[in-house]
Amino acid sequence: MTSLEQAVVDVFAPAFAAVAGTPADPVVRRSQHADFQIDGALPLARVLGRAPRDIAAEVLSRVGAADLIAEAVVSGPGFINVTVADGALATLVTAARADQRLGVGVTEDPETVVVDYSGPNVAKEMHVGHLRSTVIGDACARLLGWLGHRVIRVNHVGDWGTPFGMLIEHLVDLGEAVHELSLRDLDEFYQAARAKFDADEAFAARSRARVVALQSGDEATLRLWRLLVAESERHLLATYDTLGALLTSADFLGESFYNPTLAPVVEELAALGLLHDSDGAKVVFPAGQVGRDGEPLPLIVRKSDGGYGYGATDLAAIRYRTQELKATRLLYVVGSPQQRHFEMVFTTAREAGWLAPPARAAHIGFGQVLGADGRKLASRAGGTVKLAELLSEAVDRAASIVENKNPSLGTAHRAAVAHAVGIGAIKYADLSSDRIKDYVFAWDRMLATTGDTAAYLQYSYVRIQSIFRRGDVSPDASAVITIKDPAEHALALELLAFPAVVAEVAETLQFHKLTGYLQDLAGAFTTFFDRCPVLRSDAATRSSRLALCDLTARTLARSLDLLGISTPTQM
Ligand code: ARG
Repeated sequence: MTSLEQAVVDVFAPAFAAVAGTPADPVVRRSQHADFQIDGALPLARVLGRAPRDIAAEVLSRVGAADLIAEAVVSGPGFINVTVADGALATLVTAARADQRLGVGVTEDPETVVVDYSGPNVAKEMHVGHLRSTVIGDACARLLGWLGHRVIRVNHVGDWGTPFGMLIEHLVDLGEAVHELSLRDLDEFYQAARAKFDADEAFAARSRARVVALQSGDEATLRLWRLLVAESERHLLATYDTLGALLTSADFLGESFYNPTLAPVVEELAALGLLHDSDGAKVVFPAGQVGRDGEPLPLIVRKSDGGYGYGATDLAAIRYRTQELKATRLLYVVGSPQQRHFEMVFTTAREAGWLAPPARAAHIGFGQVLGADGRKLASRAGGTVKLAELLSEAVDRAASIVENKNPSLGTAHRAAVAHAVGIGAIKYADLSSDRIKDYVFAWDRMLATTGDTAAYLQYSYVRIQSIFRRGDVSPDASAVITIKDPAEHALALELLAFPAVVAEVAETLQFHKLTGYLQDLAGAFTTFFDRCPVLRSDAATRSSRLALCDLTARTLARSLDLLGISTPTQM
């Protein structure tokens, strides 16, 4: 199904081509001043050496009659303002409603997409930085999966490397019997190991020996390592469950997985002549990567002590993803500070032939979560904020809001709604801000029931459900939609914009474009509902308006679901 925007393009493109003497993009976009604004005359003016208003007028004279267009006029410096015909809108919106997928087709070109997200580190509690990755990555997986791509979720857990020496020794000191207890607070466990490592030379020496034992595959050491990893996984899975994230234990593919392939990767780089010596370490110099001083920047592949690091693991991972998993789109949902790291990994992988078209990789970076003071979010005591505590606070706060708004909800129902609202608030706050930017974490704003929040959209959905409940009607699949009132016209335009928004977000993974759209949709619905009686109208109008209500509700619910946010039917 073509989008409304595309239908407008199709009407004007032949006229533009005729005027330009060659195919020319009409440049159609939504506008404040009309349904659509067409900007294509402006870029053509330079090429043709004519006034843009002239070109726009000639375009209009060449556009044949089209059912789609009610009015098209030249405006401003040479724009064309287009009003879509009510009849055409009604036909299109009726068709969208008959479609399970709301006008969004399954992709004709399904790809294998790896979404690398969450990626916490073993024996360390997840913090808010990992929250962003989990929330954004989950939305990527949901959206691309819905569009028909084969999505492989990868949780690139930090489960290998030098810290495990001290962690294992600390576990040995505590005695395995207590490992579950002591690991319940993973950060404490990590900090205690760290403190001993710094203070106690004998412990530090044992830890270093332990790293060697781990890397050489010592069975007793591996067993202890597995205990640590398993305890961490349990803890992480519980958090994913609270969050409603798609990640399961099958998605854990941590750094340790690539261990056997690190040596071959290094050999391959050496054979390609990409490996250089640098103070005893093996490094690559990815083309175009230079520091402030203009010196080429190294990506360390093998450290001087013989160990492999984060860089080598990511090279092995990218090779695995394109060669074994046959992925053609690789997404890395990781904070912006790692941008340089990924540029170096991608460039090296291209040079080594592991990342060749059609395969491509993208770092889906994101900013920090800030506290009200504009600094990195911290707990009252000044430490890092623990994710589990943050999530339960969100649900608690949502519970009291829900209780105030609707005291008559039953206890069990209220708990479910509080969960949907609290977790939804956190996810929405994250997804509705421009991903690349930092955002300020503010409970009151996040949980407000009006404004740019999940709760507002959830309430909008619930309000529509209650129309059907009050009228004791269910959506009539065969209803014919007619558009008469300007508020119906505006709502239909929003509903028909959904496919184009989805397509844009699937490309850019900027989910704030989808949340912005949902705000516009909910706003258009509110205006419609204020102006246009639904249940009190004559039978035909009522059936048409109920159909608009139904399509709005389905579009809201589908979109929130793509964002990983659930929609209660009653609140
Ligand atoms: N464990 C890393 C961290 O906490 C994130 C891993 C991201 N994924 C990757 N393939 N490097 O910073």
